[in-house]
Order: sequence, then structure tokens, then C-alpha cells
Amino acid sequence: MSKMWSREIRLVSRPNGMPTTANFTLAQVELDSLQDQQVLVRNLFISVDPYMRGRMNDGKSYVPPFELGKPLEGGAVGEVIESRAMEFKPGDAVTSNCGWREYFIASPKELRRVSRDVQPLSVYLGALGMTGMTAWVGLNLVEVKAGDVVFISGAAGAVGNVAGQLSKLRGCRVIGSAGSMEKVMLLREECGFDIAFDYKVGPVVEQLNLEAPDGIDVYFDNVGGETLEAALSTLRVHGRIIACGGISGYNESKPRPGPSNLFNMVTKTLTMKGFIVRDWLDRQGEFEDEVGGLLRAGKLKNKETVVRGISQAVAAFIGLFEGKNVGKMVVKLN
Ligand SMILES: NC(=O)c1ccc[n+]([C@@H]2O[C@H](COP(=O)([O-])OP(=O)(O)OC[C@H]3O[C@@H](n4cnc5c(N)ncnc54)[C@H](OP(=O)(O)O)[C@@H]3O)[C@@H](O)[C@H]2O)c1
Repeated sequence: MSKMWSREIRLVSRPNGMPTTANFTLAQVELDSLQDQQVLVRNLFISVDPYMRGRMNDGKSYVPPFELGKPLEGGAVGEVIESRAMEFKPGDAVTSNCGWREYFIASPKELRRVSRDVQPLSVYLGALGMTGMTAWVGLNLVEVKAGDVVFISGAAGAVGNVAGQLSKLRGCRVIGSAGSMEKVMLLREECGFDIAFDYKVGPVVEQLNLEAPDGIDVYFDNVGGETLEAALSTLRVHGRIIACGGISGYNESKPRPGPSNLFNMVTKTLTMKGFIVRDWLDRQGEFEDEVGGLLRAGKLKNKETVVRGISQAVAAFIGLFEGKNVGKMVVKLN
């Protein structure tokens, strides 16, 4: 292997509140020469995700914090350039957790081969990847079924739009909230939502009560905060909450007090289930069969926002907290 260089994004300081470009740097590194049982991969698409914000804090969580001065990690899909391991050959498409960089050297166990039959390959970061699986796991967790009225926040995002499309395919009535009229129209016209509203134009509880006067059976929570409080008020007796995320609080320096109406959990005998998608990896094959089949049959749409170039990756990440994406936010590398 001739001398190779790669650019990578590193965290140089921990954000206080909203991340800024000053928290990151773009560094250039020379790759080591390839050894036996190693594979050289060129990333084609890298993922930026809201959960990464939590890893930028220095604190105990379900994943360790990112280290300062080291390249960030995250989902990526790439192609094998050179291989000294029998498991992979040049041209193979692979997913890894070695995102935020252009090239990397890995051992075979760090890579997973994916089919090129489904295109674009960025689908393995979105509908057929971690965020699609999060939607699928969440719906299964509370057994969403035909006839349920399902309310989804962050509905135009990566997890939300798939959760909505899958709920529709299960025969549910689906309501979504998102942060602009453009997103509302997209949910109604392209993702099959029955109703969608812009949570920024008025109190969520009022808009939700207007759209679901008889209440909701399931709330798929991607944002927490005011929207969770509204859902607690609107859920019917025996209603279920899928606790998936709480992006409205990710940039708060202090934890916010919980919902003022949590007592609805008792009076309406509600169930709230939280989960982390990586605990469900033993079901990945089942997820890929089901959701891959729906994608191939044209029954499920892969929605994504593509930003170009590693130098734009930080802006894409920050953009998640400004609602700049529709569907999965991915960075396409040149
Ligand atoms: N439990 C798990 O294993 C798991 C796995 C993956 C993701 N998640 C969580 O699922 C949620 C969605 O993730 P994703 O990857 O699909 O991201 P995403 O929804 O594609 O992107 C983030 C979106 O959040 C919305 N947003 C930003 N700030 C907000 C605020 N203050 N209030 C309300 N909405 C806000 C923006 O849309 P608007 O324009 O609509 O505001 C933005 O487009 C996140 O909370 C994430 O942490 C959980």
C-alpha cells in the first residue's frame, strides 16, 4: 500500500450548550501500512446523530464520552479498497462505527458486509440502518397494532418518518409533529401521515387535542419536554409511551424538571418503555428482512438529507439541533 492520508474530525473541547464549530477540528493523518488480518476502507457516507451530543459531555452514560483530541466515532458505510483478510475483498460495501473520517484500517470483526442491491448505500445509515431499526424496535416494544392512534414527535426526522410509515403500514391512524410547514406537508403528502402539525406555531397540547379530540393510544417520543407533557394529557386509558429520545433537552446544561403532569401515568394506567437500539442487535436480521422487503417493494420510502464533504460534517451535526434535516442526515464523502 502506498502512502495514504485521511482527514478526520476530532473533538477539541466539550460543548457547553449548543455545539459550535470551535469544539471540533479537521485533522489530516497518515495511515499505517496494512498488516495481515486488516482491511482498508474508504468511507462513502458518514452518519451524524443526535445521540452523539451526549457523548461530547464528560459524564457517565450508556456509552463512554468521546475523548478530546481523538477522532469522533459513528456509523458509516464505505467500500473496501484493499484487504489482507480473507473475509473481505476490494469493492465490498461495509458498514462500521468508524465514521467522521475518510479512510480507516480495521479488523474484519469491526466491519459488516452489506448488499449493493439496495441503493443508495446511505440507506444503511437511515431506513435500513440504526435509525430505521430504532423506529421498528420502538413500535414492537409497545406492540403497536392496527387501529391504534399513534402520535410521533420529531416526525420528519430519521427515526420519526420511518416510525410513521411503519405505523401506517400496520393500519394505525398516525399524527406527527415537526418544526416547519414544509416538514408538515412532507409528512402528509409523502410519508402517509394522516395529520401533521408544526409544534412551533402554538402550544403542543392545544394542537394535539385539536387533531386527536378522542385521544391517542401510543406516543413515540423523540423530543421530550413540552411535547411529552402534551402527550401525557392526551393519552387514553392504558395508553403506551415509547421513550426513544429527548432532543429538546440535549443542549441544556442542567437537567430540566420532568413533566408536571406525570401523575397521568397513575390515573390513566399508562405504560412507558425506554430502550437503546443496540440492545436489540440480535433482532437485526429480522428487522432487515422486514424493512428491507418493504423498501424493495416500494412500500417504504427512504428519506434523507445529504450534505457533501467531510468539511461540512460538523455543520451537518449542528444542523440536527436546528431542524435542518428531513429524514436521515448523512454526509457524502467525495
Ligand atoms: N433509543 C435509541 O436507541 C435511539 C436511537 C436513535 C435515535 N434516538 C433518538 O431519537 C430521536 C430522533 O433521532 P434521529 O436520529 O431521528 O434525529 P432526527 O429526528 O433526524 O434529527 C433531529 C430533529 O430533531 C428536531 N429537533 C431539534 N431540536 C428540537 C427541539 N428543541 N424540540 C423538538 N424537536 C427538535 C429537528 O426537527 P424539527 O424541525 O421537527 O424541530 C431535527 O431535524 C433523538 O432524540 C435521538 O436521540 C434514540
